[in-house]
Amino acid sequence: MRQLTLSKSGIAKVKSHMTELKANDFEGSIKSSHPGEWCLVKFPDAVYIGFINPLVDDQYTCFYILEESQGEVNPLSLIKDKITQAYAKREQIKGYLDGCRLFYGASDGIPGLIVDTFENANIIQINTAGIDKYREEIRSIFDSLTKKKSYLLDNVQYRAKEFLPTFERESVPDITICENNLKYSLRSEVLQKVGFYYDHRENRNQLANLLRRLNHTPSNGVDLFSYIGAWGMSALSSGCQKMDFVDQGDFKTEISTNLKLNGFEGRGEFYRADVFKFLDERIKDNRTYDLILSDPPAFAKSLNQKKQALEGYSKLHRKVLKLAAKNSICVFSSCTHYVSHEEFLKNIQEASFKEERKLQLVYTGMQGWDHPVSNLSDKSNYIKSYFYFVE
Ligand SMILES: C[S@@+](CC[C@H](N)C(=O)[O-])C[C@H]1O[C@@H](n2cnc3c(N)ncnc32)[C@H](O)[C@@H]1O
Repeated sequence: MRQLTLSKSGIAKVKSHMTELKANDFEGSIKSSHPGEWCLVKFPDAVYIGFINPLVDDQYTCFYILEESQGEVNPLSLIKDKITQAYAKREQIKGYLDGCRLFYGASDGIPGLIVDTFENANIIQINTAGIDKYREEIRSIFDSLTKKKSYLLDNVQYRAKEFLPTFERESVPDITICENNLKYSLRSEVLQKVGFYYDHRENRNQLANLLRRLNHTPSNGVDLFSYIGAWGMSALSSGCQKMDFVDQGDFKTEISTNLKLNGFEGRGEFYRADVFKFLDERIKDNRTYDLILSDPPAFAKSLNQKKQALEGYSKLHRKVLKLAAKNSICVFSSCTHYVSHEEFLKNIQEASFKEERKLQLVYTGMQGWDHPVSNLSDKSNYIKSYFYFVE
C-alpha cells in the first residue's frame, strides 16, 4: 500500500480530528496515485488508512481517512466490517430494519456510500472512487445481510465530482415502504434520490404523538412539498381529519394509493402545484389551515447560496403564517445543511414578527437515528424541524 506523508496543514487537520484532506495537505504531489487507491497516511505517532482520488480539483477533498490502522488492511474486509457495524446499529431499534437508511456515508465510516432499505429492495448510491471499484461486492454484502435484492442507483452529479463513470440506470422495481407503522408505495419512475426521506422519521413520529395528545385535533391540514405524503399521512394517522398534499411532482397516484393503503380514503387530496403559488391562491381566497407542515427541498447547495436560502425560507414562512388559523399548529422543516439550527429558528421568529403572529415553540427536532451525527456542528447534520402552536 502506498504511504503518503502529511504536510503541515494535513498534520494540523488530523490533530483536530478532521478526516477530509485536500491535495496541499500532503508533502509532494499526489498525482502519481490512482483514482480510488487505498493508501496509508503517516502521522508522527500513528498510521491511518483511507482512499485518494488525485483527479479531484485541488479545492475539494481528495483523501478520506477511514480509521487508524496498525498497517495494511484488505479494503474489502474493512468495507464489510463497517457495513456490519452500521447494520447492527439499526438492528437495535425496533422497526428500523423494515425500512431505514442502512448506511450513511462518512457517519457510518465509508464516505460516499449511501444505502436505503425498503420492504422489497435496497437502493445503493456510490459517490467515491475508493469504493466504486467494489460496487458488485458491496451489492452482494447488502443482498446477503438483508435477504433483499439491492439496486445501484447512481447520482450522476455527485459522481461527476470524482470523475466516476455514468453507468446505465438499473431497472429498479416500484418500492414499498414501512415507516412508523405507515405504509407507502412508490413507482420507480417518480422515485427521488434514494427513494424515501427517512431523515424526518423521528419528527413525523413526534408529530403523531403530539396530535394524539391534543383535546382538539386539527380538522384540516396541508402537507407542503409532500412528495409521497409521509408528513400528511402521519397527521391523518393521529386524528387530523383531512389533508391537502402539495408538490410540483407527479405524485397523484402515490397519494391516492397511500391513502388507501393506510385506510385514509376520502381524507386527502393531491394538488400538483408550485407551493409558493398554491399558498398565494389560498391566501387570496382567505383560506386557513389548522395544521401546516412545510418540508421543502434544500434551498442552498453551497455556502455561497446561504443568503438566498434564508430569503426563500422567509418568503415561505411568512406565507405559511398568513394561512395559519387561530390556535393552529405549524411545522417548519429544513434540510439545508448550510443553514444552522439557530439561523433557521431566527428566520421563523422574524417571519412571526412581520406577520404579527405569536408563536409557542413546542418541539425541536433533528434527523433520525439512522442518519447518525455526533454533534450539531457535524458535517453530516442537516435536518431541522420545529413545531409551533400559533396563537
Ligand atoms: C425534501 S422533499 C420533501 C419530502 C417530503 N416532505 C417527505 O417527507 O417525504 C422536497 C419535495 O419538494 C418538491 N418541490 C420542490 N420545489 C417545489 C415547489 N416550488 N413547489 C412544489 N413542490 C416542490 C419536490 O418535488 C420534492 O418532492
